[in-house]
Amino acid sequence: MITLKSKREIELMGKAGQLLADCHKQIAKLIKPGITTYEINSFVDKYLSKHGATPEQKGYKGYEYATCASINDEICHGFPRHTPLKKGDIVTIDMVVNLNGFLADSAWSYAVGEVSDEAARLLHVTKEALNRAIAASVIGNRLGDIGHAIQSYVEGEGFSVVRDFTGHGIGKTIHEAPTILHYGEPNKGLRIKEGMVFTIEPMVNVGSWESKMDDNGWTARTIDGKLSAQFEHTIAITKDGPIILTKQ
Ligand code: MF3
Ligand code: CO
Repeated sequence: MITLKSKREIELMGKAGQLLADCHKQIAKLIKPGITTYEINSFVDKYLSKHGATPEQKGYKGYEYATCASINDEICHGFPRHTPLKKGDIVTIDMVVNLNGFLADSAWSYAVGEVSDEAARLLHVTKEALNRAIAASVIGNRLGDIGHAIQSYVEGEGFSVVRDFTGHGIGKTIHEAPTILHYGEPNKGLRIKEGMVFTIEPMVNVGSWESKMDDNGWTARTIDGKLSAQFEHTIAITKDGPIILTKQ
């Protein structure tokens, strides 16, 4: 069942989203060779508590950290760790902020120092895929239009779209209906309605779209060891078009 959100609820989720966006802007300044994802995770923990918020991922289904930190061939749900980031790495920091019971979710991929042309292009294409998907998120369109916007663009650029993880409705809980596929056919699927709030979070791979799971039961990585990137926003559907609640 899809819970449509009121204007007031969207406003409150937007407050959580703004805090999350500000946190990402701080992370962008911290990311450089030598810092660890454990340090970034600790920064986020403190930043949120200083601003009266909590990291919703911590404790979610037994997950232990405020953030997910996925490096290079890790697709998502990487654990923060003590190994320093190196020049040329790419790293995705994903987090869900809970402010006064209302949630927002946004993941962002960062370049660590100077990266290869291929990595830079992957970051550009993945972010552009998210932007195209948001532009397709208008009342009257269908969810398939969102997936199609991502898949047609990404595959046209010679990259692939991960199938095993999806976007999702969000509100007072992280994962609500509907499921947002990042691939699909135009004019298929549910109609997009006013008051829907959901994430769009394409994970894009340089090589094959297929993923495998680490022994920790959380971290997904590419089967061919090639790079993966992700950009995610939480958006609200309104009569005036989609509002990006986590806009930086
Ligand atoms: N932010 C993630 C998402 O986009 C949620 C990760 S679940 C966690 O769905 F447990 F790993 F935190
Ligand atoms: Co997320």
